[in-house]
Amino acid sequence: MILEKKFEDLILTVSSRAALCSSYFVGKKDKKAADKAAVDSMRIELNKIDMDGEIVIGEGELDKAPMLYIGEKLGSKKGPKLDIAVDPLEGTNFAANNLPGALSVIAVSGRSNLFNAPETYMNKISAKVSEKGVVDLDFTIKDNIYNLCDYKSKKPKDITTCILDRPRHKKIIEDLKKIGVNLKLITDGDVSGALLVTDEKYGVDLFLGIGGGPEGVLAASALDSFNCFFQGRFLFETNDDKERAKKMGIKDFNKKYQLDEIVTGDSIFCATGITTGDLVSGIELINNEFISETLITHKSTGLKKIIRKKQKIE
Ligand code: FBP
Repeated sequence: MILEKKFEDLILTVSSRAALCSSYFVGKKDKKAADKAAVDSMRIELNKIDMDGEIVIGEGELDKAPMLYIGEKLGSKKGPKLDIAVDPLEGTNFAANNLPGALSVIAVSGRSNLFNAPETYMNKISAKVSEKGVVDLDFTIKDNIYNLCDYKSKKPKDITTCILDRPRHKKIIEDLKKIGVNLKLITDGDVSGALLVTDEKYGVDLFLGIGGGPEGVLAASALDSFNCFFQGRFLFETNDDKERAKKMGIKDFNKKYQLDEIVTGDSIFCATGITTGDLVSGIELINNEFISETLITHKSTGLKKIIRKKQKIE
């Protein structure tokens, strides 16, 4: 299903207003309050839209999340059937501690076009490569780097790899160091990390490593519009994880998902800065107005740009 162009503006309003609401809690050392402000705002704004929307990625299952829970219906019901994936505050630590990179993120597609990702970890890889077989989750680190070097006519010393700085990535980080690539170690925020491959200006050639599954689906929506490469494999650690995944229709727990299996068809993605980071600037307040910066993509219209917008604070 093709999403009408009018949804670009509507979805941008949802993420920018959520970013504004969360921005009041920047540096307050209160992750929950910063998250709740973004969640409440997203819900109010989404309910104003003429659509029959359903949350497929949200704050959790109904028993864990009173708002934006998976399966929650949103919108006036007078409009197209849409799937909605949200991460109202991506980078709760960033917002609470007034650090760069907090975002409000949302992706929208036609019904059943966004993968219903369970709340587990996902092993991910992204690169600005449109062909298959250059990089792959199942290749060794060495093969991925050397293939990418051939593809980009670069040497390992000219390649930068972005990865979450976590003990679970110790071996990968050591391998990357041995090969001589540059590292961009991020402390949080792997939606942004995965998207740094989309433009040379960010200086990142490859993103990989284990982060949140829902964050993987959100990033995949934007990567699709940029015609980039993405693969993800969910990691189910406990039996509970597996049971929940089964209920969501996942049969093969070890399956490697290609981008076109995670996002099928058209989608709109918006990530608005709460605090200034690599992708976008944070919220600026000027009297009774605010300025937001949003990375927006819309696959079918080819839109992929950063929109700076001044709006009234209501
Ligand atoms: P929150 O905004 O929920 O705190 O998530 C931040 C984040 O860094 C994500 O970007 C990433 O996918 C995930 O946490 C990684 O999880 P962990 O901190 O457990 O390694």
